[in-house]
Amino acid sequence: MKILVIHGPNLNLLGKREPAIYGEMTLEQVNQILISEFPDVEFEFFQSNHEGEIIDKLNSIVEFDFDGVVINPGAFTHYSYAIRDAISALKIPVVEVHLSNIYAREDFRRHSVIAPVCRGHIAGFGYLSYILGVESIVKLKKGT
Ligand code: DQA
Repeated sequence: MKILVIHGPNLNLLGKREPAIYGEMTLEQVNQILISEFPDVEFEFFQSNHEGEIIDKLNSIVEFDFDGVVINPGAFTHYSYAIRDAISALKIPVVEVHLSNIYAREDFRRHSVIAPVCRGHIAGFGYLSYILGVESIVKLKKGT
């Protein structure tokens, strides 16, 4: 099983960036935890601070390349119709994840323009949100 994990803007700063909100783990540590939690999954990790690069990555997925995508779109969550359209074009399940509970934060964070075109949305569990996101794709694929 192959899963693409996309980390959006500023997530390269994990561990240093507002640790009280986003935790103390680095992005590399989050990726490593996924690898060790899911030894049967082949991961590709992609991080970008640029909307166009994330869109290009989503557009580059050819059918059957991946079984699913886990994406944390960072602040693009709240306004990127272009990322939303790129996700809409995909036939594989896409799960939106957030480290923080975006519904318990500032008003502008309480709305996701991405969530309606995703298979599901997980927020508020820190790095566990990524584990739950991957788990959901694995279970969907297995039909369990
Ligand atoms: C975030 C929430 C977003 O509002 C914020 O802009 C981020 C991180 C999260 O994982 O909690 O960059 O996506």
